[in-house]
Amino acid sequence: MKILVSDKFSPEGLELMRKDADVDYRPDITPEELLKDIDKYDALIVRSRTKVTAGVIEVAEKLRVIGRAGVGVDNIDVDKATEKGIIVLNSPHGNTISAAEHAIALLTSLSRNIAQANSSLKRGEWNRTNYTGVELNQKTLGVIGVGRIGSEVARRARSLGMHVIAYDPYITRDHSEKLGFETVSFEDLLKRSDFITLHLPLNPTTHHLIGKKELTMLKPGARIINCARGGLIDEDALCEALQEGTVAGAALDVFEQEPPESCKLLDLDNVIVTPHLGALTKEAQTNVALQVSDQVIMALKGEPLVSAVNVPALLPETRAAVGPFLPLARAMGSFYLQLFGGSVDEIELTYSGNIASMPLSPLTLSCLIGFLQHIVGDGVNWVNASHIAKSRGITVLETSTTEIKNYSDLITMRARSGEREHKISGTLLNGDMRIVRVDNYRIEIVPARYMLVTTHNDRPGVVGKIGTLLGNEDVNIASMQLGRKQARGEAMMVLQVDQEMSKETLDKVKNLDVITTADFVVMPKRVFSEDLT
Ligand code: NAD
Ligand code: MLT
Repeated sequence: MKILVSDKFSPEGLELMRKDADVDYRPDITPEELLKDIDKYDALIVRSRTKVTAGVIEVAEKLRVIGRAGVGVDNIDVDKATEKGIIVLNSPHGNTISAAEHAIALLTSLSRNIAQANSSLKRGEWNRTNYTGVELNQKTLGVIGVGRIGSEVARRARSLGMHVIAYDPYITRDHSEKLGFETVSFEDLLKRSDFITLHLPLNPTTHHLIGKKELTMLKPGARIINCARGGLIDEDALCEALQEGTVAGAALDVFEQEPPESCKLLDLDNVIVTPHLGALTKEAQTNVALQVSDQVIMALKGEPLVSAVNVPALLPETRAAVGPFLPLARAMGSFYLQLFGGSVDEIELTYSGNIASMPLSPLTLSCLIGFLQHIVGDGVNWVNASHIAKSRGITVLETSTTEIKNYSDLITMRARSGEREHKISGTLLNGDMRIVRVDNYRIEIVPARYMLVTTHNDRPGVVGKIGTLLGNEDVNIASMQLGRKQARGEAMMVLQVDQEMSKETLDKVKNLDVITTADFVVMPKRVFSEDLT
């Protein structure tokens, strides 16, 4: 395994990875060198300096993992990586406290003009009244984005006597109440806050979240702290608002362009700045390096990940819970496709019973991989299965109900192509996979590597005729299951056999007068192995 670390990185992380891999540490690599050399590596680790563009990903023939030492993945083309089945992971917890402390440092400096007063005194001035500040006590702090860092900032701000209000469209009122702050609309936050601090990711929907219009809505004399990403604020609009005095001050750790070039904000007295220092503490750098190194090695070894950005996280306890169902879901996807075909518009997975309270997305993905593997080959994996399904026009739905009918856990896969629809259901019996329903047939199929699936009219002699034919063809039958809709009605038979069946033999089965349909199903080997990558 060969890993490239292309940004400054703590030695503890390098040391950890060198136990398992060859690590090239090239913190000054140029974009041109990266483009030229990336095809040698299985994994790439970056901080924010390296831009992992679509062009880099396109030529990265061997690349399987991109690790980001830090939180923001806005310097990585995650969509392109997903399309190519490359895992993108970050180390989201390691710098939370450092970034939150830095935001608080900026908040206090901003309220008391510490940076400006420091420079003035060092210039030999003794100018006290110019640097009169404002108290934080009893002031309102508006936190935009209350994830890891925003929550820590809110907690610290409350201990300073501030009233904290927050805007985050993705958290529930319950969660915010537990954390002890009031959630408000974006507009209310802008109008009510004395200080605003940003703690959300930069992406196409959050770009210039604070622009000219938003700045005119602020409470007169409000101040802004940005310790998240430069692009969240329109710098030109902020500059104007600061010059006009509608915004009293700003503290910025991050910029639209880093390092900032000809940024007018740097010339303003009511702006204080730091060069993206939020995560730059000894503790945070060691934490993120160790976390990302550990995750990259786990990803290369195919082990479950906790911080992948484009794959559902499988915590050890989650894996223990859903793990036994992953092969079943994979087998169902594969079985469905081989029996009913892959041209579908919609796939719906319904989880009923106890399983409904487990994390379901890994199971849905496992089923999709089983299904798509027959169409696109082994290139489909946990990372790109949803993307491939979507790009083929397949809508994937997931529903669940804790209601228990015949089985304590049941997975049902229904797929539709226009008017045509089929479904199969599966469960675990004493830990063993069973497909217990195929359309209206109730049957207990034991998934095996090679299976002959036939339908016929239930009458004496059918099983004998097929058995004789297979005997003559030297195909050994390992076991058999039968299911029927009613006595002497339509029936389904599944025979587990020991080897692949030739097309000629299958045609002979199809041509038997007693047979309605015959399909030969070959289950992917991985269904029966621990390695479900
Ligand atoms: P997080 O994922 O835990 O929290 C982000 C929060 O933003 C989430 O709760 C999410 O719901 C919310 N959010 C998303 N879109 C939103 C929107 N449109 N409006 C309001 N809220 C929205 O991430 P985190 O660990 O708290 O980090 C936040 C950001 O801080 C990162 O994305 C990164 O860019 C930045 N960061 C900067 C530094 C630094 O050195 N200055 C260090 C670490 C992180
Ligand atoms: C992050 O997103 O983790 C921070 O911006 C820190 C960094 O890039 O080093």
